[in-house]
Amino acid sequence: MPTPESPIQPVPFIDLQRFEDGFLDRWAERCAEISAHTQFVAGPSATRLEERLAKLTGAPSVVGCANGTDALQLALRALGIGPGDLVAIPDATFWATFEAVVNVGARVVTVDVDSDDLQLDHDQLLEALDRHRPTAVILVHLYGWGSARVREIRTLCRDRGVHLVEDGAQCFGSTFEGHSIYAEAEVATVSFYPAKVLGACGDAGAVLCSDAELAETVRRLGNHGRTSHYGHGLVGWNSRISGFDAAYLDLCLDYLDERIASRCRAATRYREGLRDLGVRVAEVPAGWEENGYLNVTLHDPVDRPLWQARMKAAGVGYGTVYPGAMSKQPGCGQHLAGAVGGEIADTLCRGVLNLPLFAYITDDEVDRVLDIARQLAS
Ligand SMILES: Cc1ncc(COP(=O)(O)O)c(C=O)c1O
Repeated sequence: MPTPESPIQPVPFIDLQRFEDGFLDRWAERCAEISAHTQFVAGPSATRLEERLAKLTGAPSVVGCANGTDALQLALRALGIGPGDLVAIPDATFWATFEAVVNVGARVVTVDVDSDDLQLDHDQLLEALDRHRPTAVILVHLYGWGSARVREIRTLCRDRGVHLVEDGAQCFGSTFEGHSIYAEAEVATVSFYPAKVLGACGDAGAVLCSDAELAETVRRLGNHGRTSHYGHGLVGWNSRISGFDAAYLDLCLDYLDERIASRCRAATRYREGLRDLGVRVAEVPAGWEENGYLNVTLHDPVDRPLWQARMKAAGVGYGTVYPGAMSKQPGCGQHLAGAVGGEIADTLCRGVLNLPLFAYITDDEVDRVLDIARQLAS
């Protein structure tokens, strides 16, 4: 317990202000440049970002957009998903995955997650395909890694003629078998919300497409269905990325490797430290390299409030990503067409606790968090 001689030394759950030396000066220069040329909406920084993302990920075509939720909606709309369709999603994800399906006019089938990798369960998906015949599946790569069975899920969807959208909001920079996860997806999406591993200075997102035609439809949908300035071939909406966000992301890419390395160092130290204490912590499945987005400790739901209370008292931030399964949200209403399983997702949501993890968190901060864990585990 803290004494007057040892006051509380808080550790935030997330700190986005640990900028690299020189970063803010470079950013100020970029801002001045964009302002001088009034390149506020999309423009050359967006083009540069899209080209850079395509090169970095190996995705054939990349389209920037306003946020990760829009990216999902753009992907679904471009694939022709709409009223009358069902879309299968994992029961443990962020609500945006659910919302995107509903916002394009389709209905949701939730599928339980696998107790090992905590991602969409392959076998339950098979059951969902047989039972509900969805026209699309959203595979969410949650927590900074993804499914150990990603290849099998891709093959399953391809064999069944079902579209597979990969929600990669949280996994930018992680790899599967040495390649960016976005490279081989039919269509994948990213969120650049500031707290993400690659975060913008506001809301932003991108759709990564396996072919140029799909990318063209995505681009049109996100720009009022334009075929010319006042010619509209489709009913879309405005989901253009801002020039500032694109430039900020472009600048952040210069530092991404260091940021990911610092996150992964902390993630590994937590994993090793917690394992030694007998605390269950989610492991990265074979074949995956994580990006250090989140630490995921797994508690008995009965014990979690005690951990939360002790961490709060010690000034240590924490997250509960996510505290409730999709199929249990009051907002589901008639939008939920079916649920296959759900017990694993429910237990996960009630027991998950995320320890502080962000770029350039120090060893000392991680040690302080592990000290609290040691007191709780003993
Ligand atoms: C899994 C997942 N999907 C979709 C989104 C939506 O992204 P955005 O907040 O950029 O709209 C998020 C954002 O947190 C997410 O974590």
